[in-house]
Amino acid sequence: MTHSAPRRALVTGASSGIGAATARELAKRGWNVVGTARRADRLERLAAETGMTAVAADLTSDDDVTRLVERVAALDGGLQALVHVAGGAIGAESVEQGLLDDWRVMYETNVLATKRLLEQVLPVLRAGATADAAGFVHADVAAVTSTAATVRYQGGGGYNAAKAGEAALLEVMRLELVGEPIRVIDIAPGLVHTDEFARVRYRGDDAAAEEVYRGVDHPLTAGDVAVTIAVALELPGHVVLNRVELRPVAQAAQHVLHRGPLAVRVEGERS
Ligand SMILES: NC(=O)c1ccc[n+]([C@@H]2O[C@H](COP(=O)([O-])OP(=O)(O)OC[C@H]3O[C@@H](n4cnc5c(N)ncnc54)[C@H](OP(=O)(O)O)[C@@H]3O)[C@@H](O)[C@H]2O)c1
Repeated sequence: MTHSAPRRALVTGASSGIGAATARELAKRGWNVVGTARRADRLERLAAETGMTAVAADLTSDDDVTRLVERVAALDGGLQALVHVAGGAIGAESVEQGLLDDWRVMYETNVLATKRLLEQVLPVLRAGATADAAGFVHADVAAVTSTAATVRYQGGGGYNAAKAGEAALLEVMRLELVGEPIRVIDIAPGLVHTDEFARVRYRGDDAAAEEVYRGVDHPLTAGDVAVTIAVALELPGHVVLNRVELRPVAQAAQHVLHRGPLAVRVEGERS
């Protein structure tokens, strides 16, 4: 146990995938969780399952974010961690053929929503900073970017640009917060098999979405990312994992993905 009292986390993107898994994982570990996303029905179901508090909000709306943050700030014990998972990709067309409207949505959800949320949450995190078991008082920001933030690929233009923007924003904020005990943790996953990410990217085309994961032996799961986030948050408060890149073993790099079973090489076999 690295902290003497339960902490509270605001988890965005809690209606599906990595965000829902993170809300579950943190609740299981004794955190108080506030989960947010646009789809209230899904949040309510997760709240019934985990005991989290559900607050529906569209992170592209100033009013919604203000209402969300006011609600969290009023909770007994305040807020100790923001876990910002909401975001995503739309489309996989070339830069030449990609739709500006899709790029706009990606910039809105991955970059501007992050800025809007951080601007309002930081004062609440400062007020809520608490001591770990060694007495180190701190608060945390963990945000899920992507390996797409640093590794470009054909068809990735809009998403690469948006996630690079989000990662840059986090890095700048870490520089600007120096002197304050606020950890800024960038979680950058590679291939994660979630229900909705690829389906949203390929506009509901299930076959195209499934092709992303075809034959991959153990892509990351939402739960894998959730555990990684929880471990980063539960390290002693003075230790910060600035950037965590996690991939399935089958994905040596963005463009080096093994499809088919993983097996240790028999001695003498050629690679
Ligand atoms: N899956 C992957 O392979 C992968 C890899 C690396 C990084 N990531 C990143 O990980 C994060 C989560 O991905 P995932 O796989 O869990 O995808 P997902 O299931 O599609 O989750 C996206 C979440 O973002 C929320 N969201 C989207 N727009 C929003 C808005 N305007 N306001 C509030 N909430 C909004 C969605 O909820 P509502 O629709 O209910 O609002 C949903 O809960 C994303 O940032 C993604 O870019 C994913």
